[in-house]
Amino acid sequence: MSTPKWTADRIKALKGTGRFACLTAYDFTTARWVDEAGLPLVLVGDSLASAMLGFATTLPVTMDQMLHHVAAVARGVASALVVADMPFMSYQVSTEQALANAGRFVKEAGADAVKLEGGAFRADTVRALVQNGIPVLGHIGLTPQSLRQMGGYKVQGRKHEDADRLVADAQALQAAGAFAIVVECVPGDLGRALTEAVSVPTIGIGAGPGCDGQVLVTHDLLGLSGQRVPSFAKRYAELGEQMKQAFLAYKAEVEAGDFPAAEHTYKT
Ligand code: KIV
Repeated sequence: MSTPKWTADRIKALKGTGRFACLTAYDFTTARWVDEAGLPLVLVGDSLASAMLGFATTLPVTMDQMLHHVAAVARGVASALVVADMPFMSYQVSTEQALANAGRFVKEAGADAVKLEGGAFRADTVRALVQNGIPVLGHIGLTPQSLRQMGGYKVQGRKHEDADRLVADAQALQAAGAFAIVVECVPGDLGRALTEAVSVPTIGIGAGPGCDGQVLVTHDLLGLSGQRVPSFAKRYAELGEQMKQAFLAYKAEVEAGDFPAAEHTYKT
């Protein structure tokens, strides 16, 4: 029996009911396995840029690239909420631009919701999207699209005034209608304080165990990211190494004439 489809409202209602796990996916096959594992939310992150396309940052990924991958993920998912990450400069220019691009994710690619980066200064955009029927997942703390402004991938909110600003950001996003908020790379006690400061779920990545939910980049969890894994990520498998061993075994069998064997060969 298939699980009922997750909606933004159902994710919002998870607040206070226990912890929940979310993952990224960028393709049909991975999305299907994440969905079969019963995770309520799958994020087609702009981490697509590095995980799938080989870019050093998330900045170069385009709307067309994101649409292509969001559509593949949406085809693989039956139950989870599919959240499309709005790429750099697809929502910052104007509210009209944000509405048009978020609308494309829903209309053309089958996304259920969008995510965008930024705190209080982004509240008007969030409000406009929500008022026009597009659920929004907020994202505060380390916001990788502001990499150049932040001067690197650094833990955020260590100073008192920065922590206070992040609490105000989370509350502004909640007031604007965000159904949940991703909190990236903040100290654990701030992750907990942010969770207590809002009535929508926080979804942490590098924000400690005090958040309502957690999200990881699937490639990091599966051991597919090589050595470039952030310290907050845990590897639950070593699929990269397993893939390499399988490729080596195949290569050796082909070279030795052991593959294809009789059972892999059609009879006349
Ligand atoms: O792009 C992404 O994968 C993300 C997560 C790190 C939250 O934004």
